[in-house]
Amino acid sequence: MLRRLHPEQPDSFAFTPANQAWAEAQITKYPEGRQASAVIPLLWRAQEQEGWLTRPAIERVAEMLGMAYMRALEVASFYFMFQLQPVGSVAHIQVCGTTSCMICGAEDLVAVCKEKIAPKPHQISEDGKLSWEEVECLGSCANAPMAQIGKDYYEDLTAARFGEILDELAAGTVPTPGPQNGRYGAEPLNGLTSLTDFDSGRTQYNASVQLATDIGDTVKRIDGTEVPLITPWTGKGSKDAAPVRDDLMGPSSVAAVPATEGTKPATLEKARDEGPDNLKLIKGVGPKLEALLHRLGFFHFDQIAGWTEAEVQWVDENLEGFKGRVSRDTWVTQAKTLSTGADTEFSQRTKKQSKE
Ligand code: FES
Repeated sequence: MLRRLHPEQPDSFAFTPANQAWAEAQITKYPEGRQASAVIPLLWRAQEQEGWLTRPAIERVAEMLGMAYMRALEVASFYFMFQLQPVGSVAHIQVCGTTSCMICGAEDLVAVCKEKIAPKPHQISEDGKLSWEEVECLGSCANAPMAQIGKDYYEDLTAARFGEILDELAAGTVPTPGPQNGRYGAEPLNGLTSLTDFDSGRTQYNASVQLATDIGDTVKRIDGTEVPLITPWTGKGSKDAAPVRDDLMGPSSVAAVPATEGTKPATLEKARDEGPDNLKLIKGVGPKLEALLHRLGFFHFDQIAGWTEAEVQWVDENLEGFKGRVSRDTWVTQAKTLSTGADTEFSQRTKKQSKE
């Protein structure tokens, strides 16, 4: 497929201050004279910030790394992970169309994309939220057919489930990635034949899905407000690592978003006598976030259900490493349903999966 720069381009590009600091920290990974080695992470960050890779973004990255523009463009146009044209504001869907997936129904998935998103690849849906393309093998052949959406894989798809996933994304929710047919990973469909004690101590989802669920950034854009931006090789968060260099800042950098304090909700020292609710039934809350909520003094659905807007702001600000999750994943709405004893679509699915 011919990969070229899109004919319509913005005038300029600049990393947000936090992304700029992150990008500079990436460059420090490489020895003097080898800064070009940071080209892929910097291009990727630019894409995560904007949704797609614009010509000014490619040029900006090349400037930061002391590379000829052409060299950075060669990288951007070679890898399919880089989108050279605008994509849906919520997600760009990459359906694998290679042998295993094709045999198992990839053509049906493409038909769903044509029906629900747009008739042609790289066209954006009418509501502007989704776009799609067919790509080559994504290395998840044992879970065919599959699609990559944002940063995660959705596997063992049927046309019906895939259609639901697209509807959920368009409606503002993020379906749980991974196998969609009840499989945990890539084990045989008719059950394990070896390592049968595998069940003991396993997490709710397989490792990559668990991480995706805990982190919750499947289709989230990186807008520079994430804290902390970790640079483990320097031993600290990038915000502490080095001041942002003015000479590397682009022309239209935006100011950092000021922290909102909000109001601290009422907390409990420990769960009530009946024990804590399973907060992981709230979509977007994994084991790490549940433990963090406990540390903050939140154990029950009714606590979360009662948070006011100002209290949501406070919690959003104080979820270290998970800022903004409460409002992004509509915890209060979910908790209101769960606190009555009813199920959400997510909690129902989670309970079913844990029984299987
Ligand atoms: S053939 Fe689709 S992931 Fe390999």
